[in-house]
Amino acid sequence: ALPTLKYYNGFPLSPAVDANWVAELIEGGFQLYSDDVLIVTYPKSGTTWTQQVVSLIRGLPRGQEETHVTNSIPWLEKSKDVTLSLPSPRSFKCHLPYHMVARGTPADSVAKYIYVIRNPKDVAVSFYHHTKRYNDSTYHFTGDWNDYFELFLKGEVDFGSWFDHVLGWLAHKDAENILFLKYEDMKADLRGTVKSISQFMGYSLDESVIDRITEQSTFENMRSDPSANPDSLSSIKAKITKNSTPFLRKGIVGDWKNHFSDEQSARLDAEYAKRMAGSGLELRYE
Ligand code: PPS
Repeated sequence: ALPTLKYYNGFPLSPAVDANWVAELIEGGFQLYSDDVLIVTYPKSGTTWTQQVVSLIRGLPRGQEETHVTNSIPWLEKSKDVTLSLPSPRSFKCHLPYHMVARGTPADSVAKYIYVIRNPKDVAVSFYHHTKRYNDSTYHFTGDWNDYFELFLKGEVDFGSWFDHVLGWLAHKDAENILFLKYEDMKADLRGTVKSISQFMGYSLDESVIDRITEQSTFENMRSDPSANPDSLSSIKAKITKNSTPFLRKGIVGDWKNHFSDEQSARLDAEYAKRMAGSGLELRYE
């Protein structure tokens, strides 16, 4: 496994989270409200992108370090203080598997969940770059892409196996309070995605507002928006390894082709066929 992971009952967590808080959150439960929105993902699947869209729909304040989308929509399991002090209406990002959130009953909870899925090949590549990016401060992983690929396939990286995570949430795909989105669809039709998210959240926005939010949520505009680009934060800058990739790295579908060998691609395809058969999930990798 990656060397510096934290664990909850054997389940691998990011080194960046407070493991005691995760335990408390899961075992003690966490009071959710009907105006709460949780953006849940396996890492590197489009979390920050969705945070940008949700923050614009909510009309959250912007322009300061503390109103950066990663602060106004904080990471649920990272810090107890930040999570408990957030005023309603609250939005969080979360990387926990289904059975670990809200005592394993998100589909019966009053809160709303947005679960974003990205194809596992691009996720693996993005996650590898993420690991290298925070390597000196956080991960201390000495391997290369080939080593990382093996860990990813075994689920020995933060938040475990992509397959387990996605399948756990997909089992509840008919729940009315969970909106399932795909990164690849967001790329193909961002405006349609902004519309579905706003309707799901109970907002009826003018077409001109939908246009503006769509424009502000493109990869290029997020890169140049200091309230959306994580690299504009001094707290992030302090943690990144010299000469590593930007957080908003490429933002495309299919970058896996620049990293995967034919053999790695075939092995992931075989695992996908085995694990995802019957899930009803169709992903376009091209
Ligand atoms: S994290 O650390 O789990 O919160 O990362 P996450 O935000 O889920 O994923 C980061 C990847 O999402 C890409 N991204 C985008 N792609 C397209 N359009 C927009 N607006 C956008 N915003 C973020 C980001 O570039 C990372 O993917 P890669 O493939 O590494 O570029």
